[in-house]
Amino acid sequence: MNRPKDSFLILDFGSQYTQLIARRIRELCVYSEIHPYHYDLSEIKAWTPKGIILSGGPASVLSDKAYKIDPQIFELGIPILGICYGMQLTCQMLGGEVEKADKREFGKAQIEVLDDSDLFQGLGSATRGSTTQGSPTQGLTVWMSHGDRIKKLPKNFIPIARSSNSPIAACKNKDASIFALQFHPEVIHTPRGKDILSNFIFKICKASPSWTMKSFIEHSAEKIKKQVGKNHVILGLSGGVDSSVTAFLLHKAIGTQLTLIFINNGLLRLNEEQKVIGLFQNQKHMNLKYVDASQKFLTELKGITDPEQKRKIIGRVFIEVFEEEAKKIPNAKFLAQGTLYPDVIESVSFDGGPSVTIKSHHNVGGLPPHMNLELIEPLRELFKDEVRLLGKELGMEEEFIYRQPFPGPGLAVRILGEITPERLDLLRKADSVVINEIKKAGWYRKVWQSFAVLLPIKTVGVMGDERTYENVVALRAVKSEDGMTADWVELPYDLLAQISSRIINEVSGVNRVVYDISSKPPSTIEWE
Ligand code: XMP
Repeated sequence: MNRPKDSFLILDFGSQYTQLIARRIRELCVYSEIHPYHYDLSEIKAWTPKGIILSGGPASVLSDKAYKIDPQIFELGIPILGICYGMQLTCQMLGGEVEKADKREFGKAQIEVLDDSDLFQGLGSATRGSTTQGSPTQGLTVWMSHGDRIKKLPKNFIPIARSSNSPIAACKNKDASIFALQFHPEVIHTPRGKDILSNFIFKICKASPSWTMKSFIEHSAEKIKKQVGKNHVILGLSGGVDSSVTAFLLHKAIGTQLTLIFINNGLLRLNEEQKVIGLFQNQKHMNLKYVDASQKFLTELKGITDPEQKRKIIGRVFIEVFEEEAKKIPNAKFLAQGTLYPDVIESVSFDGGPSVTIKSHHNVGGLPPHMNLELIEPLRELFKDEVRLLGKELGMEEEFIYRQPFPGPGLAVRILGEITPERLDLLRKADSVVINEIKKAGWYRKVWQSFAVLLPIKTVGVMGDERTYENVVALRAVKSEDGMTADWVELPYDLLAQISSRIINEVSGVNRVVYDISSKPPSTIEWE
């Protein structure tokens, strides 16, 4: 494989943080690959990575079934950094001793740096990172998660950091070519962890930073081409950031071997279908199959008011329509999905390689197994902010890159009560006012989501001299990191006033606007 000159090998022992190691390295503009711990020695020799990192893992090196690496890896002359399990394994395999700690150490800890000449350069006593009040020694804050600890170091090894619980919190050999850490530098709870990895990569391994989104595109494209061969890939396009970036990346890799299926479920926002068609078909000439199934969805949803029933119907009809369309595409062997790293719950890649997942997040709602489509998930090592950078690099318009999340069931979960064409029309207009005003005021990118909800009640109002009896629209704006928890946003009063006044004046059938001031939990972001 054609790798960048300075690349790193991460040998995976099954830690849930292994992919974070890769992410941190990538943030330093350096390329890395994750492989199972039993990755072939001959492959490593042929590759000669600049450095090798041994990940953590849930097992104990004291167990009979402990995962080991080929001992010759320590003799290749390639610098090695062992993390947690990787540390214990390094020490054990090189002649040291590991023992079960009296108690499992989990969470934040303080370490004292004993040697700041290489791995901890810039992090010694004079330049320490954040400290915890009341800790016995003022040290570097790190994240520990281990049950075993080093009892005796191998010959020629010295400790370079200690903590009250781990007398050997970090160590190195005297040649300064093998290093090991009891804690996890890759997690954000180790605030200076990135500096430690940076020292390993640049000072110890002498790598140069050359890995960018541009190179990510080149490498992904090569991988996708190889995987797909002469077959065809289909992708369920929603118009959201993840599926759109996936489409751009695949298009770059395999061009006309990709068909996008964009299903209009009748629950989209104002002019959304034109925008999506414009971007993918008119502007970029991608193979786009636009399926207007809105009548089918709306007929099936007629008379339904229960939120769960709505969701189930939408999910089922989506699969029916998607399957029917997919059948018409000859040679379709792959299904591409915009699964991101946070969707991949736990890495068990050490047993079968980085492509194995416990759970795949189905952006298109989970397709029936008989469709027999193989998954392609080129974004599964990326976080949302990286996906946006990727989109930018692929030439996507900002409007698509910075779109707020929109739920699969669309406006159906924002219309409380029955979904009718009239009520959809009303909500679309109200929602469009919200989005326009939020954008105009510079709040669109500052909030996680901002939208309108149509309530199933009518209230009395007065317009001119007339009594009115019309609908209520609720306004929702939340901030959130990942959608799991959220807080309502303190939007400025003049912005709220402008939105309310425009909706009541411009959207006929609405005479009242209210603002939702509930956080998640105990509420949810969507109303249904
Ligand atoms: P809730 O309402 O559960 O929403 O607090 C959390 C986040 O998920 C989005 N959401 C969905 N996204 N399919 C999706 O793709 C769905 O069925 C769905 N339901 C909610 C919601 O917009 C918010 O960002």
